[in-house]
Amino acid sequence: MNTGTRTVPLSGPYIGEREEELVLETLRSRRLSLGPNIERFEELFAERVGAPYAAAVSSGTAGLHLLCHLAGIADGDEVITSPYSFAASANCFVYEGGIPVFADVDPRTYNLDPDAVAAAITPRTKAIVAVDIFGYPCELDPLRALAAEHGLAVIQDSCETLGAAYKGAAVGSHGTSCVFAFYPNKQITTGEGGMVTTHDEDTWRLLRSLRNQGRADSGGWLDHARLGFNYRMSDLTAALGIAQVEKLDEILSLRSEAATRYEELLAGVDGVRVPLADDEDHVRSWFVYVVELEEGIDREHVLASLERDGVQSARYLPCIHLQSYMRERYGFAAGLCPVAESLAQRTFALPFHTAIAAEDQEYVVDSLKRALAG
Ligand SMILES: Cc1ncc(COP(=O)(O)O)c(C=O)c1O
Repeated sequence: MNTGTRTVPLSGPYIGEREEELVLETLRSRRLSLGPNIERFEELFAERVGAPYAAAVSSGTAGLHLLCHLAGIADGDEVITSPYSFAASANCFVYEGGIPVFADVDPRTYNLDPDAVAAAITPRTKAIVAVDIFGYPCELDPLRALAAEHGLAVIQDSCETLGAAYKGAAVGSHGTSCVFAFYPNKQITTGEGGMVTTHDEDTWRLLRSLRNQGRADSGGWLDHARLGFNYRMSDLTAALGIAQVEKLDEILSLRSEAATRYEELLAGVDGVRVPLADDEDHVRSWFVYVVELEEGIDREHVLASLERDGVQSARYLPCIHLQSYMRERYGFAAGLCPVAESLAQRTFALPFHTAIAAEDQEYVVDSLKRALAG
């Protein structure tokens, strides 16, 4: 229970007058769906991430599901993904009958360890869902090499990673199809929404049809060429997206400044590991600020102490394979992915968003120091 007078929220959107203006303009235009904003948002987004095509969808999960559907994942196919991610990274292929195979993560990057992925491949493996967790790009080249060797599809779950770069080029530009997401805690938000970027024109055409009830490009409103979904983004939502992409540089730089401030404030605080620094091949886009406690520190004590000070935090991330529905459905148990399981017990997110005030960050770190001392 918060016993103080102050609350520092975990997250929050960065929206202003431009968002209001574009949303209002769209409302007044009375074209609330299938209007011009979708294409504009897609064009701006595709250009931004260096992909030739982009298709807006109703959520990141919807985008991931469509890519799994297009990869032909069907009953009994095994799909390898990360256990240290959000549930949608696995749910997206479970919807199609795919069986989750969790490969362990690298303790430095928290992303899939390519050696663990290689060891998990069987003759039934169909695809890899490669997650860029917490905005840090995954080991795309080795994963793609494995996929090429074994004839697997690669789907990149970049829902947390808009603005990151891998080997000197934007995530989205490397040739794999990627999915980005716009829930309000993301770098940019549309309330709910997602974007699939691809380098393949046929995939893009199919994505546009599948999100729109399987309608044919050339057909009428009630012509359905294939079994589709209603995964459309509304024009109101896309209006928000346009305003947000317009200020993406500002957002990324404010988030990066906030992350640097945390790193400075946390320097020398014993028992806390700050997020991995960038290197030549990996430039993170700051999504959340997740710290790792040294083994032996009682995370629950720390979180309870932060809560008393009004500092919101979250246990990021629990392992997907240990969620109750996964245990019940597939019989997964602790011990399957020791690195991810250890991280899942020791990591948590501090308040972090584009407009976080420096004083709030100082307050958070003071509170964390008290929690660790007591
Ligand atoms: C790694 C990851 N994958 C998938 C998703 C799903 O996105 P959405 O919530 O838009 O469906 C999210 C977002 O929450 C995510 O963080």
